[in-house]
Amino acid sequence: MDNTVPTNETNEVRVELNGPVPQHVAIIMDGNGRWAKSRGLPRSAGHAAGAETFRTIASYCRDIGMKYLTVYAFSTENWRRPQEEVEGIMRLLDTYIHEALAVMEKERIRIEFFGNVSGLSDNLLDLIKQAREMNKKVTDGVQANICVNYGGRDEIRAAAAAFAKDCMEGRRSPEELDEALFSQYMYSKDVPDPELIIRPSGEIRTSNFLLWQSAYSEYYFTDCMWPDFTPFEINRAINDYNKRSRRFGAV
Ligand code: IPE
Ligand code: IPE
Ligand code: MG
Repeated sequence: MDNTVPTNETNEVRVELNGPVPQHVAIIMDGNGRWAKSRGLPRSAGHAAGAETFRTIASYCRDIGMKYLTVYAFSTENWRRPQEEVEGIMRLLDTYIHEALAVMEKERIRIEFFGNVSGLSDNLLDLIKQAREMNKKVTDGVQANICVNYGGRDEIRAAAAAFAKDCMEGRRSPEELDEALFSQYMYSKDVPDPELIIRPSGEIRTSNFLLWQSAYSEYYFTDCMWPDFTPFEINRAINDYNKRSRRFGAV
């Protein structure tokens, strides 16, 4: 059972971790818009609050010894939103990476990007390049994989195309393709599959997130909106995860 005590300042229930921390947790950072709407604020305010939550959660995940934290920030489908909202999210991303570059080394956070980044602005591409360069200086701590212009189907499509190209150009042959090799064609190559995937905001669907990598992930859904997410919510999800029996098809 969760070890629960109410906190002083809010009605939030304090949940302490009561088991091991998975090495890789993934989060669909959803509910920014509804969080803002319920406060009479524009959706952009929800995205700004969500970016703040990400900072807090990434540091917390590092502190508890998690190795990889993958977050869904912008999907291949999110381009369907009004241009103004899309531009606002891209500006936030720009600001986030800019600020992160200055503190990554001290904070022990590596920042990777999963997704078709070639679809982003030149400015963002340059910041991503700088972050990847800075990653080389961060030898421990947590790796945050930010999924931008990411779609699980698009990732598998791109992997298939890249493998086919390698075959046509003589570097690979179809007979050698196994799951481990195909994994190397994904954005997540060299990162173990997430043990736990968390979706806040009450929606119970994957929305095209980590389709390949989630084959045996445990899911945790909560009604909490992403901007309201706290380290206690992470603890609650991990404690729930630790109660599960993972059989991977065996008995
Ligand atoms: C998640 O929050 C952020 C992105 C998808 C970019 P939403 O913007 O989807 O918030 P809701 O789901 O409308 O509340
Ligand atoms: C998924 O959330 C994408 C991100 C959180 C970045 P959406 O809000 O876009 O998903 P749907 O539309 O509810 O499925
Ligand atoms: Mg949403």
